[in-house]
Amino acid sequence: MIKKGIILAGGMGTRMSPLTKAVNKQLLPIYDKPLIFYPLSILMLAKIRDVLIIVNKGQMDQYRKLIPDGKKLGMKIEYIEQDKPRGLPDAFILGEKFIKKDNVAMILGDNFFYGQSLSKMLFDCVKIKKGAKVVLHKVSNPEKFGVATVKGKKILSIKEKPKNSKSDLAVTGLYFFDNKVVKLANKLKPSKRNELEIVDLLNSYRKINQLSSEFLGRGGAWLDTGSIEDFYKTSNFVSAIENLQGFKIACLEEISLNNNWINKNKVYEAIKFYGNCDYSKYLKKIIS
Ligand code: TTP
Repeated sequence: MIKKGIILAGGMGTRMSPLTKAVNKQLLPIYDKPLIFYPLSILMLAKIRDVLIIVNKGQMDQYRKLIPDGKKLGMKIEYIEQDKPRGLPDAFILGEKFIKKDNVAMILGDNFFYGQSLSKMLFDCVKIKKGAKVVLHKVSNPEKFGVATVKGKKILSIKEKPKNSKSDLAVTGLYFFDNKVVKLANKLKPSKRNELEIVDLLNSYRKINQLSSEFLGRGGAWLDTGSIEDFYKTSNFVSAIENLQGFKIACLEEISLNNNWINKNKVYEAIKFYGNCDYSKYLKKIIS
């Protein structure tokens, strides 16, 4: 079982400027909570309790105000700063000391996942012992994403933003790797845009026949919140679901409680920490 996870929560957020000039994208709100809660909740649903959050240089204190160290959630959460965006595989170079000899999951800080069979799919993903696994989702505009062709669950090819793709399966921002990832990431050369590319890293696994996939399925939603338009689409999605169902998406304390990582006392502490707000009212509801 994979027990460690990395959230890549740095980046310039250029597409969302001026919103991201003073505040990191992952600290901006998706409806009623900061974006970072959503990828963190996915790792927690995968029962990953040991998390490294990679943030931009100088931004660690801002994140710590929100999520100090994981104790409140019954987890271990640590931070490391990335001095500039060197690309997604940099997570495994910066995270080498955190990963040690273990396998590791990685989620992009701006990716949103939701769906009925999500926990089951995550359970299948964390089981990998060897190789790498990506999560695929059908999209209507594959030319905007990294796209995979598959045979069953095996990945045959991955192309970045292909013009005329036969496949409409986008590679989402959630990945599961064996320990080789550190060595393979260290071997990568920067691309033309001077970044290490996740497609190159995945292709090094594909070349040795060790790249597989899971599908989010048509009942699931995946949203990449990188543009203003997608950011608000995601916010509206969360608002619609939460208000219709009365459940919150990505309520961290609720997931911890369900995982038996914390008891009700910790939820009372969280209510005090957040203060008089809707999120706290929801926490009161789940423990009453
Ligand atoms: P991107 O969407 O590629 O980059 P970005 O968030 O900086 O946005 P923009 O393209 O508008 O400038 O990054 C995906 C996620 O990964 C995002 O959450 C930021 C994070 N990231 C890092 O933390 N470090 C990096 O080196 C890169 C490339 C991304």
